[in-house]
Amino acid sequence: MVQQHVEKTIEALLQERRTFDPPEEFASRAHAKDSSIFEQASADPEGWWASQAQRLDWFDEWHTVLEWNPPHHQWFLGGRLNAAHNCLDRHVATTPDRVAYHWIGEPGETRAVTYEQLHEEVCRLANVLKGLGVGKGDRVAIYMPMIPELPAAMLACARIGAPHSVVFGGFSAESLRDRINDAACKVLITADGGYRRGQVVPLKANADEAVAQTPSIEKVLVVRRTGEDVPMVEGRDVDYQDAVSGASAECPAEPMDAEDMLYILYTSGTTGKPKGIVHTTGGYMTGVSSTHHLVFDVKPESDVYWCAADIGWVTGHSYIVYGPLANGCTSILYEGAPDWPDKDRWWSIVQDYGVTILYTAPTAIRTFMKWGTELPAKHDLSSLRLLGSVGEPINPEAWIWYQEFIGGGKTPVVDTWWQTETGAIMISALPGITTLKPGSATKPFPGVDADVVDEQGNSVGRGNGGYLVLKRPTPSMLRTIFGDDQRYVETYFGKFGPEVYFPGDGCKLDDDGYFWLLGRVDDVMNVAGHRISTYEVESALVDHQAVAEAAVVGRVDPKEGEAIVAFVTPKAAVTGDEALLQELREHVAKVIGKIARPHSIVFTDDLPKTRSGKIMRRLLRDVAEERDLGDVTTLLNAPILDEIRTKASSLRAREE
Ligand code: WTA
Repeated sequence: MVQQHVEKTIEALLQERRTFDPPEEFASRAHAKDSSIFEQASADPEGWWASQAQRLDWFDEWHTVLEWNPPHHQWFLGGRLNAAHNCLDRHVATTPDRVAYHWIGEPGETRAVTYEQLHEEVCRLANVLKGLGVGKGDRVAIYMPMIPELPAAMLACARIGAPHSVVFGGFSAESLRDRINDAACKVLITADGGYRRGQVVPLKANADEAVAQTPSIEKVLVVRRTGEDVPMVEGRDVDYQDAVSGASAECPAEPMDAEDMLYILYTSGTTGKPKGIVHTTGGYMTGVSSTHHLVFDVKPESDVYWCAADIGWVTGHSYIVYGPLANGCTSILYEGAPDWPDKDRWWSIVQDYGVTILYTAPTAIRTFMKWGTELPAKHDLSSLRLLGSVGEPINPEAWIWYQEFIGGGKTPVVDTWWQTETGAIMISALPGITTLKPGSATKPFPGVDADVVDEQGNSVGRGNGGYLVLKRPTPSMLRTIFGDDQRYVETYFGKFGPEVYFPGDGCKLDDDGYFWLLGRVDDVMNVAGHRISTYEVESALVDHQAVAEAAVVGRVDPKEGEAIVAFVTPKAAVTGDEALLQELREHVAKVIGKIARPHSIVFTDDLPKTRSGKIMRRLLRDVAEERDLGDVTTLLNAPILDEIRTKASSLRAREE
């Protein structure tokens, strides 16, 4: 089955056979122009990572680069530093007036925030947090729109050694509540609301609903963004602007051990509640600074860099906040949707600000393809010199379109493979060195030991497919899952032993040793570049009083990567009709967030199960994708499949 899938995908990928050498002019000025760094790094990975750690300011030098007790690893032991100091103070000393963020609100306001201004805001806010009782090690939840106060909030936490837990503003009150409770956060920083497609996202209302069930939260700090009237709870809620303007701008950065926690970020797993991925200070900062410098070839004096993700995801943490600021670079921070007020909003921004580097996801690129080439063509995009992609495999057509119509046919496109867990990019081209193949993330970053193995963990060798693994830890990788180290051990090291990290992705190595990522091999879906587990959506569905049982699978979707398809058995006496369908979609949106809303729902009296009662999602995936059915010999109730199949295909026909 997996093999069949691998072959089908590869066939599609290899139809685009063009390769692209680095443009000479680009290569001659690139930070990485000599492939000897690969040899250097593989001969002495620890020495290589130590050289990259030198990119940071350390209060105390480390004595040990790596201590590896598989599957646990610690980096730069004995070293002390502060992430906010590295992102701000050292640039304030040299380039205080450089813009850190050109912020663009969706309704049209703009603000340029210099390093000096951001530093001041962060120091004041850090003092506010201290005044609210937040100390080193206390967790702070952040639930905010894309406004400059969001990176400021993260850095204020980092400055005083309080790990932050950012929850994406598109998540529901219930998702926020569960994440706050898992990490027992003491303070929540939020806003009255934010703008998305001309509408106000009611963040404070969601926060109030969440905080009603989070005993650990003592104070809620509220940024005024929309200016709408939101209720403030006496004694609990604090006005951000009032508090910050009244606080001192002096706040020394707390020296943190390299292995002190910098943040927690939740991501979906195959079973149970979301996992709180733990990142520490020294290794993470080393990884994001190094990869941001070499993969995006950033020249802080001249580049205008735009990572168009949301800070609520790891891409935003690493490549809007910590990487770019550590490197002293100027970024764009855009609050809203790409089609507001018009479908060329991004291209206006690129032209107006002279954006030189753009980093986005294949799902966005495919949306732009659908909207047509006239929109980018209306704008001068000639400032762009490098494009990046992340979140899911980029299909060669989208890659070529991106390079041709956004990059003017001249820019390198770096396809970057990594995860919340790896913290930083692990597989990617270095644009001044690597020959690009559209659809391939190319080769591991220096110091990353990636391979493709079979079920037994043996290397498959060039020309073959299997499971992607990382055979040596890197500094930016997660240390554990918050509050559940056993789950860390089992999830990532259960398959191939304690020394081999298994990310959950399928991959093929071509004859030149290039890596071609093939998507998840577990029950995690990739919807528009975001990970959602089938388990979470199933739990949300059965949480509804009309549902007896539910199974959820991802169906390959030309635009979204995967579309969520749910198979639902209603309780006796309940009819699975259009009204229930809509109700269930809204219910999932309420429980998890709109991104998890099933694309289609098939009502059925029963689900295909093994004799031991396990739902066979594999068969449902075949049904959803209209493939021939895989092995059905262990199936208890085979006839139900035909019934489901008929229903699914008539539904599909209606949708199309
Ligand atoms: C997928 C996002 C192919 C992959 C940074 C991974 C990719 C998951 C790529 C992590 C890529 C990410 N090519 N697949 N360039 N980048 N993925 O944690 O399945 O949100 O395991 O981190 O996205 O998603 P996450």
